[in-house]
Amino acid sequence: MAIESIPLTPHIGAEIRGVDLTRPFDEATRREVYALWLKHLVLLFRGQELTQEQFVAATGNFGKLANLARPAEFRPPGYARLLDNIMLISNIRENGIPIGALPDGEMWFHHDMLHAEIPHKGTCLYSIEVPSQGGNTLFANCYRAYETMPLDLRDKLEGHRAYNSYNLGELKRGDGKGVPHVKMSSHPVFRTHDETGRKAVSVNRLMTDHVEGMDRGESDKLLNAVFDHSENPEWVYEHVWRKHDLLVWDNRCSMHARTDFPEGERRLMLRTTIEGHARPV
Ligand code: SIN
Repeated sequence: MAIESIPLTPHIGAEIRGVDLTRPFDEATRREVYALWLKHLVLLFRGQELTQEQFVAATGNFGKLANLARPAEFRPPGYARLLDNIMLISNIRENGIPIGALPDGEMWFHHDMLHAEIPHKGTCLYSIEVPSQGGNTLFANCYRAYETMPLDLRDKLEGHRAYNSYNLGELKRGDGKGVPHVKMSSHPVFRTHDETGRKAVSVNRLMTDHVEGMDRGESDKLLNAVFDHSENPEWVYEHVWRKHDLLVWDNRCSMHARTDFPEGERRLMLRTTIEGHARPV
């Protein structure tokens, strides 16, 4: 069956049809889908009923899987055995403790693993249980954000680096008491994608703390202007999840956020990430 790609918006995202992720791709299919990923930044595959092994194999079409093993005391039925490369993203609680990471509500825009020295280049998210409303994932095109940025703002940050930390948003909102201020890595504010050669915004509201070597007031002012510009709905796709959707996104040129969802409703996703090739430049 021929592969069909249907753009989800003019600037980011495509739904891929004619692909069965329960089976390994042949090399021609893998190359075709990978090229569509580089072009559209976010790919959606609907109606894929996958085992953990099939989900891991599907991720492998986009590169080397990162190990996300996390100790977990509780697992939902059917997940007592979780493959090392899979992380649960879930608000489901057992004895009051979330069974997964990133459990509740809204999340600000971010690039996954930007706090790492070599950030993971891609992420796959697969839905098992979705709330009746909200919990949507939004994706912004960071090439477009760079290319349309007012030049006076862009020139002030070109060639600069910024420090990024994990879930800094909780600290920024002032409700992060006790959140460890874990390791920060500095990366270029605007990075060049190592496969397409295009430049993209690589700072975000959730994780970026400050521009290296810049006065804090000036850094905050410039970064906030970049965040506001980069989150323009004109180049954002909002994904409303259905059960058994698989999304794969490129963290080198897109960032994502999550909308709030009802506390009392269950959301369960499986997540894998794909290792990056090198430090961003
Ligand atoms: C993530 O940021 O990796 C999770 C996004 C989501 O839960 O929609």
